[in-house]
Amino acid sequence: MADLSTSYLGLKLKNPLIAASSPLTATLDNLKRCEDAGLGAVVLKSIFEEQIEAAGEKTADHGEAYSAHTDAYEFLREASKERHIDAYLALVEDAKQALDIPVIASINCRSNGKWIEYAKRFSAVGADAIELNHYVVATDVEVDGAEVEKEYLSLVKSARKALNLPLSLKMGPAFSSLANMLRRFDEAQIDGVVLFNRFYNPDINIDRMQMVPASMLSGKDEYTLSMRWAALMSPQVRYDICTSTGIWDGKTVIKQLLAGAKCVQLCSVLLKQGLSTVFKIESEIGQWMEENGYESIDEFRGKLSHEHADPMTWERVQYVKSILDADTRKE
Ligand SMILES: Cc1cc2nc3c(=O)[nH]c(=O)nc-3n(C[C@H](O)[C@H](O)[C@H](O)COP(=O)(O)O)c2cc1C
Repeated sequence: MADLSTSYLGLKLKNPLIAASSPLTATLDNLKRCEDAGLGAVVLKSIFEEQIEAAGEKTADHGEAYSAHTDAYEFLREASKERHIDAYLALVEDAKQALDIPVIASINCRSNGKWIEYAKRFSAVGADAIELNHYVVATDVEVDGAEVEKEYLSLVKSARKALNLPLSLKMGPAFSSLANMLRRFDEAQIDGVVLFNRFYNPDINIDRMQMVPASMLSGKDEYTLSMRWAALMSPQVRYDICTSTGIWDGKTVIKQLLAGAKCVQLCSVLLKQGLSTVFKIESEIGQWMEENGYESIDEFRGKLSHEHADPMTWERVQYVKSILDADTRKE
């Protein structure tokens, strides 16, 4: 039988399928179901730095009787923040006790502020790794690209300096020179990068004349962006690349591995089709490996990356070719 084991962030995984951060990884029961379904690791639902701060402000605002008293106000605010963090600490600790697969804590951080202290505490209760989830919607016309890049790098560098457990960054693709950014994260000695997060987008309902959220779940054709960047960057960086977004079946997982990814994260497929899909995906990968004579993932991982396949196919020429083909068809 084919061996599907791999490694990610220095952790041993029995297969390359990770449950991405989502409501499915927010409770101990769900986490146990993820392990029982056969997933190789779990990334806990993110704790949001803003959420912690907001919880503190809200409680303090409700304590009106004390609000004139600065010490009491501070006490209420800090107590509420602590409760919020304690709940997450308990989830990390319980998950570590109940599960045999790696447990990755996830923090959505705004700046290089207090979240580093939270991360240290998650590490102390046994998290196997920390996934930083940083998201900037660069809508301020006064802020240039260099400033946004500086913020990202500063965040990664401070995290690396403060934390001595495996560290990954889950990020979006919106950089003017993505390749350069991904190399600079390597210089900052991060252990892994998740390509890419999929962010909520707003949509408009024209009948109700209202803003509504666009579909939260990805489509099955959204996988190519992360696959392309895994192929382009895996030969050029030391850290592990984990791909995410639009991965719905075993064939797509195989493609990501061929492009050079160490593993993948699954979210929409699990939310939509249920955890029984994990077995189907795993079987599909195993069957393909057997049919193609591979005993382990390392035997074919990266075989079609930029380094090994025709580099031009991962770059621009393919685009030019498809335009030329379309023009020829028209003639
Ligand atoms: C309902 C929902 C909640 C999510 N919450 C988080 C979160 O807390 N932190 C995070 O990093 N990603 C979160 N994500 C993003 C997923 O982890 C994943 O990166 C994204 O959905 C793309 O993968 P997919 O195509 O397999 O869905 C969430 C996604 C969904 C649909």
